[in-house]
Amino acid sequence: MNAIYPLFCYPVMMCKEIYQFSAAEERYIAGLAMAENVGNAMSENDQILDSQELSRLNQFIQSQLAFYTEKILRLKPENKLFITQSWANRALPGQFHPKHKHPNSVLSGVFFVSGTAGDELPPIRFHRQNDLLPLELEFEELNDFNGGVRWFEPVKGLLVVFPSVLEHDVGINETASQRITLSFNTFISGPLGNRAQLTLVDR
Ligand SMILES: [Fe+2]
Repeated sequence: MNAIYPLFCYPVMMCKEIYQFSAAEERYIAGLAMAENVGNAMSENDQILDSQELSRLNQFIQSQLAFYTEKILRLKPENKLFITQSWANRALPGQFHPKHKHPNSVLSGVFFVSGTAGDELPPIRFHRQNDLLPLELEFEELNDFNGGVRWFEPVKGLLVVFPSVLEHDVGINETASQRITLSFNTFISGPLGNRAQLTLVDR
């Protein structure tokens, strides 16, 4: 087999451990006050992972972020990620999430609060930003090298962590059920760059 290198790829992490919600956590999320958003609704509270009710979930997310930064990014110990904002989204039947990315964030996460195999809730779709070839081609089969879109089905308790620059969206919810997710953004603490190259940020 020839060696193929997936150069300059974006690591999207699907956490192996599926989080088991308690009834109290589900009640808290279901009871969040929601406000209108483009295509769907968003919680008025943008710091929901700071709540006492979601402290166990917050711990779970923090441990998965630590895995990503330590094992995938291999950040130095002086650089840590912290969650800047966290919120819930709800897409009722007929609603959707338009294509977007998350500025002013390093990694983002989407945590599925609803979804079971076969329920047909719309998946999260990630979109290629740099064309592989300057051509419009059809392929015998799609794979991670030739595909322009890659999607992942919602599974309750599944956490997806991805670089915040990666564009994503969710198609129209054509089921009769709500699609509920919890999302968060992060930023980095600790020194960046270096003095000699005039790239230092250390405050
Ligand atoms: Fe998003």
